[in-house]
Amino acid sequence: MKKRYKIAILPGDGIGPEVMNEACKIIKILKKKFNLMIETQEYDIGGIAIDKHGTALPKKTLKGCKKSDAILLGSIGGPKWNSLSPKNRPEVSSLLYIRKYFNFFVNLRPSLLLNKLNYLSPLKKKIVKKGFDILCVRELTGGIYFGKPSKEIKKKNQHYAIDTTIYNKYEIKRIAKIAFQEASNRNFKVTSIDKSNVLQTSKLWRKTVDKISKKYPKVKLSHLYFDNAVMQIIKNPSKFDVILCPNLIGDIISDECGILTGSIGMLPSASLNEKGFGLYEPAGGSAPDIQGKNIANPIAQILSLSMLLKHSFNMNNLSNLINYSVQKTLLKGFQTYDISDKKKFITTEQMGNEIIKSIIQDY
Ligand code: IPM
Ligand code: MN
Repeated sequence: MKKRYKIAILPGDGIGPEVMNEACKIIKILKKKFNLMIETQEYDIGGIAIDKHGTALPKKTLKGCKKSDAILLGSIGGPKWNSLSPKNRPEVSSLLYIRKYFNFFVNLRPSLLLNKLNYLSPLKKKIVKKGFDILCVRELTGGIYFGKPSKEIKKKNQHYAIDTTIYNKYEIKRIAKIAFQEASNRNFKVTSIDKSNVLQTSKLWRKTVDKISKKYPKVKLSHLYFDNAVMQIIKNPSKFDVILCPNLIGDIISDECGILTGSIGMLPSASLNEKGFGLYEPAGGSAPDIQGKNIANPIAQILSLSMLLKHSFNMNNLSNLINYSVQKTLLKGFQTYDISDKKKFITTEQMGNEIIKSIIQDY
């Protein structure tokens, strides 16, 4: 019997609902064309859930995620909820909570720039002549994001705040393994980023990654300090393959790699746990400044769906079909506001429709 799949759809805040709408259109087309048994169920999360239910992560949402085979998320947060204390902000109380709850320690963020699309990059043509294909493997449940203590302290005549960076060896080992495995299916290079000239956690990071690399003799490992890495990536992105990062460093490096493809609105992500259960979301955020204008780029959301089909449902062909259709649509010259000259561009909905046209043509 054909397997039934359940996807929990969490549109969230900002441009989330608009771009999610385009991804849902694609799910619908794929279901019809390929006779797939995929059920979707929508749940509230983030700021909008605070407004509607008084909490960023309602019980019903968490329950819905638990009984699904995968989670597709839009984006979370916005100016309306920025004045809340850090731990009550929707980013922390829903997104970071969910990451930790399901133990999504793996975060895969691929940035691909085809050579034929290199004019979309903010970098000079001679630098991106060949395009690039980088996979950022970010550790997602450790480091400074989750270390305790993390608080603001007011004493008599002292006022300070503290965050804690902590990494256990097992956390470094398990994410390093993922990076080497990914590289073994790509171009056999891992660049590990740290700040081991200063930080203790980085020293342990580097030592542990070195050790794990011995098990993958075909993969070439190099290390870069974080400050040097951001510079090297801008100078020559084509020489990178897999970039392995601690949590905070990966947050920054993945935005950098994303914008080098033309827009962070095209950067998808997969957050996975040991069992392969996953949450898929655009890495770019809720972009409240362009919310509701029908100009957001839906590609990151659509490519996140593609990652979901690959990693959670093993539907590699359909995942490739989506990727290919996105590339083809861009190659035809269709551009949303973010990647356009700001004079001639198509809407969020039109971009979704064009990608659907390519999907239908190419199959
Ligand atoms: C991301 C985002 C999140 C992060 C925020 C919203 C908490 O920037 O997924 O990259 O810092 O991880
Ligand atoms: Mn980020």
